Amino acid sequence: MDKLVIEGGKRLTGTIKISGSKNGALAIIPAMILAPGIYHLSNTPNLRDIWTMSQLMNSLGAFCELNENELFVDTRSINNYEAPYELVKKMRASFYVLGPLLARFGEAKVSLPGGCAWGPRPVDLHLKAMERLGADIQIEHGFVFAKADKLKGTKFNFDISSVGATGNMLMAAVLAKGNTLLTNASIEPEITALARFLVKMGAKIDGIGTTVLEVEGVDSLTPVDETSVPDRIEAGTFLIAAAMTKGEIEILDVNPYHLSSVLTKLEESGCEIDVTGNKIWLKMDDDPKPVDYITGVYPALPTDLQAQWVAYMLAAKGTSKITDLIYPDRFKHIPELQRLGADIQLIDNSAVVQGGKKLTGASLMSSDLRGSAALVLAGLISEGKTDVLRIYHLDRGYEQIENKFSCLGASIKRIKTELV
Ligand code: EPZ
Repeated sequence: MDKLVIEGGKRLTGTIKISGSKNGALAIIPAMILAPGIYHLSNTPNLRDIWTMSQLMNSLGAFCELNENELFVDTRSINNYEAPYELVKKMRASFYVLGPLLARFGEAKVSLPGGCAWGPRPVDLHLKAMERLGADIQIEHGFVFAKADKLKGTKFNFDISSVGATGNMLMAAVLAKGNTLLTNASIEPEITALARFLVKMGAKIDGIGTTVLEVEGVDSLTPVDETSVPDRIEAGTFLIAAAMTKGEIEILDVNPYHLSSVLTKLEESGCEIDVTGNKIWLKMDDDPKPVDYITGVYPALPTDLQAQWVAYMLAAKGTSKITDLIYPDRFKHIPELQRLGADIQLIDNSAVVQGGKKLTGASLMSSDLRGSAALVLAGLISEGKTDVLRIYHLDRGYEQIENKFSCLGASIKRIKTELV
C-alpha cells in the first residue's frame, strides 16, 4: 500500500488543470447500458473508481478502454445482469447499474452496497423508485433481485434529496412506457450532466437543472459521445489547500458556477478570488478568519468538502463549527487530525475547531476518500514530516494528487510501502 510523505510549511503557488468529474463520469458510464453501441467519454479522470466502474461494466459483457483521459465503451454485447458484492462494496456507485439494466433488459441482480467508513449508506429510495416504475424487487442473501417486463411511467417524490437515487430513477424512466414526474430530484451538477447526456441520446426530459423533472419515456436511445464536466470537489480541495498555505494559485478547466457557495465562503474567510471563464484565481496573504461551514444539497456547501474545511479551519485563529447535515457521521478524519495537535471537539454532527494551534507532523491513517484529502491538507501546514497511509482511498478520487501538489510547490512524495 502506498503512502504520501509531506514536509509542511510550503506556500502553494502556480497553476494546475482540474480533472474531469469522478462523480460525473460514474453517473454517465452506467447510462451507456441503455443503448447498445460505442461511446467516447472525453475528460474522464484516470482514477481507481473509474477503473472499478470499467471492471463492473466489463463483467456485464461491455468493453471499456481508458487511454489517459479518453474512455471508450462498447455496450453491444452485455449479457450479464449481475453487479457482484466485491465490486459494489468497493464502490457504492456500482449501484447505478440497477436502473439501466432494468430499463434495457428487464432484470438486474445488484449487491446491496452495505455501509462505508463513516456509517450506513441506505438505498431504500433507489428501490422504492424502481418499484414505483413497476419493478418487482426482492432482497435475498445481500442482493437486490429486480425484474420488470416493461417499466411504466409514474410519479415519485424523493423524500430525501438523493444524487444516486435520482440518477438511477432517471436512467430507468427514460425507457419506461409513459411519463414520469420526479419531485425533489437532486440538482447536483453531476446529475444535471447525466440528464443532459440522456437527452443527447434521445431521451425526453423537461426541467433539467430543477428539482422537478418530467420524463416522457421513449422506445429507444442512441449512443453518443460526451465530455465529462470538471471535478468541482477536486477544484475546491486545491483552492482550500492554497488558502491554508497563504498561497496564490490559478486552477484551469473548472466550472466556477458549480463552486459558487464554496467561493463565497473562501472570500468570507479572507481569500482574494477572481473568476475568468473557466479559470479561478485565489490569493491568501493572512491567516484565514474562522468561518462556519454547514453542508447541504447543491447549491449549498458540499459534504464532499466538509473534511477539507475542517483542515482549513485549523489555520484560523479562533473558533469555527463545521456541521454535516448530509452524513452526520462523516468525521473519521477528526481523530487523525488530533494526532497533529489539532484542537477539535466532535459534538453530534458538528466539529468545533479551536484553530491557530501549532501542528506537528505525524503518521496518519486514511479511512475514506475526502477524509484522507483533509489529512494531506493538514500535513501541508504541520511542522515537519507527515505520513498519510493507505492512500488508495485518495487514488479513488484524485488524479495524480502528489504531482499536482508538487507542481504547486508542496514537498510531497509517494512511497511504496509493505506496511499497513
Ligand atoms: C453521491 O453519493 C456522491 N457519490 C457522494 O460523493 C456525495 O457525498 C453524495 O452524493 C452527497 O452529495 C457519487 O456521486 C458517486 P445521496 P450518493 O444518495 O448518491 C441518504 C465522494 O466523496 N439516502 O445523495 O450515495 C444518504 O444516506 C462521494 O465523491 C437515503 O436515505 O449520496 C444521505 O444521507 C462520497 N436513502 C443522503 O441521502 C437512499 O436510498 C444523500 O445521499 C439514498 C440516499
